[in-house]
Amino acid sequence: MLSSRIEILADKAAIVARSLDLVTKRIQSAIGEKECCTISLAGGSTPKPLYEALAQQPIPWEALHIFWGDERYVSADHPDSNQKMVRQAWLDKISIPPDNIHPIPTEAENPQQAADRYEQELQSFFQVSGKDLPKFDVMLLGMGDDGHTASLFPHTSALSSDRLVTLGEKGDQTRISLTAPLINQADCIIVMVSGAGKAPALAQVLQNDAADAADYPARLIQPKGELWWLVDEAAAAQLN
Ligand code: 6PG
Repeated sequence: MLSSRIEILADKAAIVARSLDLVTKRIQSAIGEKECCTISLAGGSTPKPLYEALAQQPIPWEALHIFWGDERYVSADHPDSNQKMVRQAWLDKISIPPDNIHPIPTEAENPQQAADRYEQELQSFFQVSGKDLPKFDVMLLGMGDDGHTASLFPHTSALSSDRLVTLGEKGDQTRISLTAPLINQADCIIVMVSGAGKAPALAQVLQNDAADAADYPARLIQPKGELWWLVDEAAAAQLN
C-alpha cells in the first residue's frame, strides 16, 4: 500500500468537501497523465452530495469513464438503483458522452448474467483477460454499520470470489458487486464513513487486527495504491 490515511472530519458535509477536493484532483491528474480517467462509484446515501458537487467541477467529462462498484438487482429507474441516484445527482447535469457511462446491466435476465456481462465489459474496456485485473484510477466506497463495503457483506461467498464481479446478498436483496481483489487494484481508494451507527464497525475495521474480515469485510480493502478513510467525528467515536 502506497499510503493509508485516516482523516477525521467534523461531519458529513466536511467529508463531502474533502472528498470533492481529493476526487477532483485525482481525476484531473489522471486525465493530465493519460487523457483518460476511470472512476468506480459507491452507492448509498453518503456520496450523493459529492456527486452533486462534482457536477459543478471544471472537468473535461469526455475523458472520464464512470463505473459502479456495486448495484442492487433492480431496474435502472427503481428508487433503490445506484445508477438512478448517480444520474439524478450528477450525470444528468453534465455533458458526458453516453458511452462513457458504464452501469451494471441489471436489465439482464438474472443477477448472475448481470455480473457476467459487467465482468466482460470491464475486461473489454480495460483490455484485460483471464486473471488479469482492471485498475481503476479512483474507487469510491462506503461502509455499512455491519462493516460491509460495496456489496461485500459479512459471511457471504462474495468475500472469497476470485471473479472480477460477483453477487452480494443483503438479506433478500440481491446485489452485484466488484470483488475485493479488483477493488484493491485501484490507484486511489476513498472510503467515506459518516454517522454514529458506523462507529463500532469502524473501530473493528481500522484498529482491531484480530478482527476477521468475514465479520467486517471492509478489512479486505488493502489496496496497492492510496487508501483514504474520510470519516466524521460521530463515526470515529470509538477510534483511539
Ligand atoms: C450501496 C453501497 C453500500 C454503501 C454502504 C454505506 O449500494 O448501498 O454501495 O456499500 O456504500 O452501505 O451506505 P450509506 O452511505 O448510505 O451509509
